[in-house]
Amino acid sequence: MPVQENKIKQNIARIWDVSSETYDSHEGHGIQTDTEKEAWKRLFKNLLPPGRLEVLDVGCGTCEIGLLFAEMGHRVTGLDLSEKMLEKARAKADGKGFNATFRKGDAEIPPFEAQTFDVVVNRHLLWTLPHPDVAIQNWKRVLKEGGVLLVVDGVWNDGSLETKTRRLISDLCTLLVEKRNPRKGYYSREINSELPNPHGAPPEKTLDNFRAASFKNVRDLDLKELIELQKRTMPFRKRIAFDYKYHLIYGEK
Ligand SMILES: C[S@@+](CC[C@H](N)C(=O)[O-])C[C@H]1O[C@@H](n2cnc3c(N)ncnc32)[C@H](O)[C@@H]1O
Repeated sequence: MPVQENKIKQNIARIWDVSSETYDSHEGHGIQTDTEKEAWKRLFKNLLPPGRLEVLDVGCGTCEIGLLFAEMGHRVTGLDLSEKMLEKARAKADGKGFNATFRKGDAEIPPFEAQTFDVVVNRHLLWTLPHPDVAIQNWKRVLKEGGVLLVVDGVWNDGSLETKTRRLISDLCTLLVEKRNPRKGYYSREINSELPNPHGAPPEKTLDNFRAASFKNVRDLDLKELIELQKRTMPFRKRIAFDYKYHLIYGEK
C-alpha cells in the first residue's frame, strides 16, 4: 500500500475529530496533575540538546506533549490529520501565549523541508500508523544533524489472559458506572487490518526501525514511573486495565 493520505487515514482522522471534544479529560491523554507534568518535563529535559530548539510534535492531537516544550521555551510546530484536534491545540497554545504553529498533514510524510527541526517528538502515534518504519525514516529526514527523535508508545493489549481479563472488568465497570459503551471510539476491524501494531507498537520493533534508519545512540527508556503517576488519579475501573509496557525510544541523527 502506498504511503499517502488514503481512505483509512481519513477514517482515522474522523475518529480523532470526535475524540478531540473530551480528549484532554481522559487519564493517560490529558496531563492531569502538576506532578505528572513535571515528570514529563524532567524526562524530556534530560534528553534534549542544549539551546532554544525547533520542535516538531507529529500526530500532536491537542498538543499536550508539544506544549510542554513550548513551556520550556522552545518553538513548537504541531502536525495532525484531525482538524478538530488542531483547533483544540491552537486554542490551548493561544490561551497560554505560546510560540506554536499548527498544520494539517500526514505524520508519515511530514510536509517540511529536510533538516528543519532539532527535535521530532510524538506520543501515542506510532501504533496508529500503517507504515511506522517509513514514518521513522521521514522523521529523520526533517531532523537537523545531531537532532533527536523521541517516540513514546505503549503495548496497550499484549493479548495475554491477564490483560484480557483486566480489560473486560474495566469495560463492565465502565458500562455499569458511566452507562456508556466502553468501546465507543475504538478503531473498526477494517482500520485495524491496515495497521501493523493496532494494540501498541512493541519497543523491539521500534528499536529495529530506528536502527534501520541509522539513528545513533538508540535507547529504550521504561516509563513505568509515569504510568504509576497517571494511575494515582484514576478510578478503579480505569486503573485495573492501565497496566502495560510504556516506553520512550530515543535516537540521534
Ligand atoms: C492517541 S492520539 C495522540 C495525540 C497526542 N500525540 C498525545 O500524545 O496526546 C493520536 C493522534 O494521532 C493523529 N494521527 C493519526 N494518524 C495520523 C497521521 N497519519 N498523521 C498525522 N496525525 C495522525 C490523530 O488525529 C490523533 O490526534
